[in-house]
Amino acid sequence: MITWEELEKIVNNCQRCELCRSRHNVVLGVGNRNADIMFVGEGPSYHEDMQGEPFVDPAGKLLDKMLASIGLDRQKVYIANVVKCRPPGNRDPLPEERAFCLNYLRVQYMLVNPKIIVCLGRIAAISLISPDFSITRSRGKWIYKKGVEFTATYHPSALLRDESKKRLAWEDLKSIREKLNELENK
Ligand code: URA
Repeated sequence: MITWEELEKIVNNCQRCELCRSRHNVVLGVGNRNADIMFVGEGPSYHEDMQGEPFVDPAGKLLDKMLASIGLDRQKVYIANVVKCRPPGNRDPLPEERAFCLNYLRVQYMLVNPKIIVCLGRIAAISLISPDFSITRSRGKWIYKKGVEFTATYHPSALLRDESKKRLAWEDLKSIREKLNELENK
């Protein structure tokens, strides 16, 4: 099995897609590498690209509040993105960019070995749960795959754009807390 150090070396030198040309930093992940729960976003934006850490932008501040609302923080969870390099202009990562980078994400979750993976937004959900996943229709549902409970909720950026979605996101967060309690007490 590959180690974190080996993974970091490979990803930091990755040139498998065009995103490597414009990146300032590879953004691998942050948090507890033995966490029971992992959160997966879309990809770095400007601040993450400059700092090399996921979710440090305003959406990241909201993610921290969402975690705190269910008794979690960055020391208790592991946070990563589908793609590790910033798509220019914050466009959606292309299917081929996602496909290459998903291999790294899969290694990350093999190493972390979480009980729960929470997809933040559509790009994470279509990459990890199912290609036709709709956040509107299926957020908050639980899908058990290969020993891991997957769910999806709104991306914090979507909540910043449309505050009316926060009530539904709160329902999802409560369900995530309940599932985590259930699995940690098994
Ligand atoms: N949005 C994401 O999906 N990931 C980040 O790291 C920051 C913003």
